[in-house]
Formats: sequence, structure tokens, C-alpha cells
Amino acid sequence: MVKVFRTIGEMKNIARDWGRSGLSIGFVPTMGCLHDGHASLIKKSVSQNDKTVVSIFVNPTQFGPEEDLDKYPRDFDSDLELCQNIGVDAIFFPEPSMMYSDNYNTYVNVKQLTNNLCGKSRKNHFEGVCTVLTKLFNIVKPDYAYFGKKDAQQLCVVKRMVEDLNFDLKIIGCDIVRESDGLAMSSRNKYLSSDERAAALCLNKSLNVAKRLISAGKTDVNMIRSEMIEFISKQPLAKVDYVEIVDGCSLQPITCITKPCLIAIAVYIGKTRLIDNFYYE
Ligand code: PAF
Repeated sequence: MVKVFRTIGEMKNIARDWGRSGLSIGFVPTMGCLHDGHASLIKKSVSQNDKTVVSIFVNPTQFGPEEDLDKYPRDFDSDLELCQNIGVDAIFFPEPSMMYSDNYNTYVNVKQLTNNLCGKSRKNHFEGVCTVLTKLFNIVKPDYAYFGKKDAQQLCVVKRMVEDLNFDLKIIGCDIVRESDGLAMSSRNKYLSSDERAAALCLNKSLNVAKRLISAGKTDVNMIRSEMIEFISKQPLAKVDYVEIVDGCSLQPITCITKPCLIAIAVYIGKTRLIDNFYYE
């Protein structure tokens, strides 16, 4: 039976007891509205650890003032059921006021890796992500934490933070889970109308354009980016936020395709901003 903890104290106590008993803790931090992408992370954690904790917290500090904090989809009952079915041991489900008191004043910043891609269009986003994860790691004390590769920049930034700040845990990146037609799973897919849902396929398809060009031996990053942007622009409901090809480790721009590199895109479909990527390694 999955236990639900709504206070930091309760969550810390059980995690401390498990740690003292020598039980390994796997952790899947989420903002809820769980889908098959989350389920794959949770299943991995359950199969690799004695105990698995899932946090459900729509973290206000990682949303900009114009973003979708208030309307971000929430469905605790169905999240609970999914966690229960997979065999999760504990859900940490705190109120925002518990995580961020009125006097809250401490933020965690990873430099450089956060300057471009999503960091460029979502100011302070990664500061919010790193801050909440620092808090969650201190509360849950996991041995392993599981993240999806769809948020490629987030994964890279979190790995850097864990290494730089000597957190005693290992970050595990898990493959992108896609719908049968190729759309990467995301809680934000819920916002899409049926026309937008069809239009959203242009993200994955534009990555396929890049893959085909690379397989054909093309290495000019500008040319590949232009082809991708042109492909997406043919879709009237789509507006490119960015299409970038960057070094797979430093996330800095490159001019010529070399392994490893990350082809990352963010596209507005109507008002919904979706991301996807392909890691070439
Ligand atoms: O990827 C997410 O859902 C969030 O950024 C995370 C890691 C749960 C932090 O709020």
C-alpha cells in the first residue's frame, strides 16, 4: 500500500528509517499528472531499489510569470492509482507553502549549461528546478534519482549540480517514451486540441529530418537546422521557439556534427510549448 506524506517531517522520518535499515531508496521527482513516461521511470526505480519514493509537486519557482503554473494539469487520484499499481512505497505530496515559507531566500544556480536552449527562453527556470531538487534530495535522501531524457538539458544540469555539490546519489537518465505515432509523452500534451495534437507530430518528424540528413553524411549544422526549421514552418499551428544543435556535454553551439551532440527543439503548438530532442552518440 503506497503511503502519502504531506509534510517534510514525515517524509524525512521514513526515509531516515529506511536508510538506517540499509534499504536503498529510488526517487522519481515529478509535477504529477503522471503518464507512461513517468511510469517507465517509476518502474525502473521499483525494479532497482528496495524502496521507491515519487514526489508530486508543481514547483512554482520553475515557472515564469507568463507561464502555465495555475493551469498546469493536476490529477492526484489517478497519480495515486498509477503509483499504487506499480508498487511505489511513498508519495511525497507537499503544499507549496511547506516547501517555500514566506521567508524563503535560498536558490541554487548552475551556470553556463543553463544559458541557452530552454534556459534562454525560460529565465530562472533551471534555478527553480535545481532549488526544488536540492530540497527534495535533502528530504528524501535517495540513492538513485530517475529523470527522463526528454528534458535533456534538465538531465545535464542536474547531473552537474549533483557532482558539483557532492550529493550522495546517482542520477539515472531514462529513454524518451513516445506515443505510437512518435509524439513524446508530456503532461502538457493534455492542453492540445485534436488539430494541435496532429500538428504536434512536426516535432518528432523534424528530428527525423535531421537524422536522415546526418545518416546521409551531412555535417553542416546550419544547413541541418535550416531544413528542420523549414519543415516545422510548413505546419501553420507551429511556431519555433528554438531549434539547436549543441555539443552533447557542454551544451554549447557547434558548427559541424560530431558525436556526442544534442539536437534539441522547442516549438509552440498553439499556446502550448513542447520540447523534444535526439541525442546523437
Ligand atoms: O521534470 C519535472 O517534472 C520537474 O522539472 C522536476 C524535476 C520534477 C522538478 O520540479
